[in-house]
Amino acid sequence: MQPQKCCTMRNIIVILFAALAVLMGCSPRQPQYRIGVSQCLDDAWRQKMNYEMERELLLHPDMVLSRRIAYGSNELQCAQIDSFIAERVDLLIVSPNEAEAVKPAVTRAYRAGIPVIVADRRVTGDEWTAFIGGDNYKVGSLMAQWVREELKIKNEKLKIKNSRFSILEVAGLPGSTPATLRHQGLMDGLPEGVEVYSVMGSWYREEAYKVVSEYLATQPLPDLIVAHNDLMAIGAADALQNYQFSIPIMGVDGINPGLQAIVDGKINCSATYSSRGDMVIDAAARILHNEPFVRDTVLETILVDAKAAYPMLKQDEDITRDLETLHLVQTQTESKWRQMQFDRIVLSVCVAVFFILFVATLSYIIARQFKLQTEIKQDILPQLENMQEAIQLSRRDEAFADRLKQIVNEHLSDPNLNVEYLGSMLQLSRTQLFRRVKTVTGKGPLDYIREQRLIRADQLLHTTDMTIQQVALELCFSSAGYFTKCYKEYFGHLPSER
Ligand code: FRU
Repeated sequence: MQPQKCCTMRNIIVILFAALAVLMGCSPRQPQYRIGVSQCLDDAWRQKMNYEMERELLLHPDMVLSRRIAYGSNELQCAQIDSFIAERVDLLIVSPNEAEAVKPAVTRAYRAGIPVIVADRRVTGDEWTAFIGGDNYKVGSLMAQWVREELKIKNEKLKIKNSRFSILEVAGLPGSTPATLRHQGLMDGLPEGVEVYSVMGSWYREEAYKVVSEYLATQPLPDLIVAHNDLMAIGAADALQNYQFSIPIMGVDGINPGLQAIVDGKINCSATYSSRGDMVIDAAARILHNEPFVRDTVLETILVDAKAAYPMLKQDEDITRDLETLHLVQTQTESKWRQMQFDRIVLSVCVAVFFILFVATLSYIIARQFKLQTEIKQDILPQLENMQEAIQLSRRDEAFADRLKQIVNEHLSDPNLNVEYLGSMLQLSRTQLFRRVKTVTGKGPLDYIREQRLIRADQLLHTTDMTIQQVALELCFSSAGYFTKCYKEYFGHLPSER
């Protein structure tokens, strides 16, 4: 029995230690830095940027992203940045919807000591830690370059010189730096005599479709359309479908769905506009780890025509596939991680409950042991001792009573039977004799002797033919009268009335 108990105890301890090891074991991902990402929009270009960030993040397990999207609202974006400040994120990545409107929130974050990386669109002022984004002026210049080439071709085709041309510019949100700079680059690079009409598509395909449709309904057809991004270029192409004419269209971004639209001949070309979410995360890691970083990174831009679009489309599809796989792996990892977290919580609760029960039981048992021991010592042991003593005393008294009775009964007819004689027979002093006889009989020695004589006298009167006189004499009463008196006192009637 004993070794089995010992094994069970050992098993419990082993399980307990295993549980503790699991609880204390290293997590596959224990992010130390929380990065707030504030995105102005959630279109294809931003999703690519987000994926790039997440992919790069795999190299930085000490960082975790919390992303919020403002859906083109300056107010919402400011509120989201303020909530990141309140949550004390370790770093803020922001792609501001409009430079001036979002600047106050970005400044608040920067002044709160949070490093701020501005990505793609700039904010005014210089209260930010790093910037990574495209060269929007150059994007505008590329648009102008394309316009020049297209007009040259048109001139050559029409065999005319210095004719007047018009172009329709579908602009992005006016308060955003890409829209301002792309417009500026375009204007600065256009040749003399080109009229530019601008409509505002605010970066959205649907908005571009609407404003271009409205324009085409009231104005003469332009020679070319330049849109500040591919989505708006596609929107413009959608609007043009209602007319027989085809007008060359250029967009910006050079990713899908723009590339597909070029391959399909829906739009003519685009300018690349890199998102480089990987570089943004790399810069974030450098800043957080106090490593050197470049404060202002301006990304290259190139023209994508029909020839370049197809291989780029294939490449883009591969990247998208990779990113989707990455997303899947991340989702699976997250779900496993959540399961593990859940198991750990359950395990922690079990271990805690076990410990609490163990400690509570142990304390209860120890406290009860003390209490019982004290009770035994203080109450029960003295009682036991008293009882033992009482038993011993009563045993001694019984033996004494037997002996007293025996001696008295053997000497009932002996006139010398008195206190002194009894004391000497029992080897007790007069006082001791009185005390002990009183204890066991409840009366003094002389009364006891007289009682025994009367009992014997009664027996003799009942069992023999002896007279009262003879019995009184036999049992040493001084006279028959005295005997009769004593007998009456003891038995309540005269000896003659028996
Ligand atoms: C995506 C986008 C791109 C454009 C960039 C400008 O949200 O509209 O199409 O090039 O933002 O910031």
